[in-house]
Amino acid sequence: MVVVLDFGGQYNQLIARRIRELGVYSELIPFDTSVEKIREMNPKGIVFSGGPASVYVEDAPIVDPKIYELGIPILGICYGMQLMTHQLKGKVERANVREYGKANIEVKNDSPLYKGLKKTQQVWMSHSDLVVEPPFGFQIDASTDHAPIAAMSHQDKKFYAVQFHPEVQHSIYGMEMLKNFLFDVCKVEKNWSMETFIEEKIKEIRETVGDKKVLCALSGGVDSSVVAVLVHKAIGDQLTCMFVDHGLLRKGEAESVMETFGEKFNMNVIKIDAKDRFLAKLEGVSDPEQKRKIIGNEFIRVFEEESQKLGEFDFLAQGTLYTDIIESGTKTAQTIKSHHNVGGLPEDIQFQLIEPLNTLFKDEVRKVGTELGIPDEIVWRQPFPGPGLAIRVLGEVTEDKLEIVRESDYILRDEIKKAGLDREIWQYFTVLPDVRSVGVMGDIRTYAYTVAIRAVTSIDGMTADWARIPYDVLEKISNRIVNEVEGINRIVLDITSKPPATIEWE
Ligand code: XMP
Repeated sequence: MVVVLDFGGQYNQLIARRIRELGVYSELIPFDTSVEKIREMNPKGIVFSGGPASVYVEDAPIVDPKIYELGIPILGICYGMQLMTHQLKGKVERANVREYGKANIEVKNDSPLYKGLKKTQQVWMSHSDLVVEPPFGFQIDASTDHAPIAAMSHQDKKFYAVQFHPEVQHSIYGMEMLKNFLFDVCKVEKNWSMETFIEEKIKEIRETVGDKKVLCALSGGVDSSVVAVLVHKAIGDQLTCMFVDHGLLRKGEAESVMETFGEKFNMNVIKIDAKDRFLAKLEGVSDPEQKRKIIGNEFIRVFEEESQKLGEFDFLAQGTLYTDIIESGTKTAQTIKSHHNVGGLPEDIQFQLIEPLNTLFKDEVRKVGTELGIPDEIVWRQPFPGPGLAIRVLGEVTEDKLEIVRESDYILRDEIKKAGLDREIWQYFTVLPDVRSVGVMGDIRTYAYTVAIRAVTSIDGMTADWARIPYDVLEKISNRIVNEVEGINRIVLDITSKPPATIEWE
């Protein structure tokens, strides 16, 4: 395995990810992890990541200098290169010209990192400090127009450093360099895959849990489903899953969760039917934020009450992903948005957490899910918000309105699937604005609700564009909804991107 020390750079998560793509297990760990702990992890290589700090400021994150005596190859990237220089008594200064974006390096020698690669190649730079004097014993490996020391190495000690970012795609031979570092310098074996990940996690979970009991809040979403199946594989019936049906789910969803996990996987799943509780709390409430708060709080209350009834649990299994951790801010990364864990469970809850997916990205979790035999409908499920259909019924939520959204959403999903667009469109659903208009059906005047179709393409939900669904598919959807769902006489299409709109309407 190879450890990546996290100094808070934007691309850090990618480094570990790229190494895993090359078939070597890698983990991102805090920069201040003790040298003893690192030695215990027994890595075959260490990477110092990039980061926003300057090495010469007072609180700059640094590593214990004993790390340079472990005899393990080190690759310093960007800040990592500057840190290595600073700690080994070279010189780093503020650059006259900040380099940001594409640059060309000229490779100066046959250092193993560049073995088999072109001498001139494009890389991705993002820095405002610069190494101006390498530490003693280092040779200069590459330069750019503005960075005479763009890469350096001490080959006896197996220390390599690059000012650019090999982990991003714009560094054309970046993957090749990482490959050279792993297999030529660190001599590490290619032995990591989804199967080995699953085997290792199962072993780890067994060791951690022993003969104790684990609870898992199962929502039917990808992350909690994969965690539940993985933990179940490890400890079988020592796991109990709790599935809270708040009555705000899509058509057929509760049944499908029970069928998949209860029957197909033969897991211990307890369904809590809490629909009446949630609807009673939502009665008369039309403010979107208030609706969200009520649902979040009620979820916690139901979870606490019901888990107590089930007896004592020592562990809580959660589907936290690597991205959830990064978004909540690590010690060094800037906080982008605070992450709410499953259903926003309270912090003082008395469980130890098991989070076996917390080193993975969403697409890696999907691969684990498929490997574990979880059906495609779950593994490739489109995102679905915690507050469920309640934020798709605008204004006050009633059972009748939920029914309209549920039925129209079902038709939309059915037609999108039949048209083969279900993997292409990132998220698609119907919304019930609180609007009625006049129509005519079978010579009779109607005064009924309008349903809006919302469908977007997106990578991560942070930005989105409205999906161009073909007219003939839209026509089928529209016809079916007005004909099959009572109380609807008009269909409209939402053609706004995000920003300025959001994906959900509330
Ligand atoms: P917006 O509406 O903010 O949504 O553009 C972005 C993505 O997040 C989903 N979403 C939520 N997911 N809890 C969730 O787990 C929530 O409260 C929530 N609100 C929005 C939304 O469906 C979209 O995929």
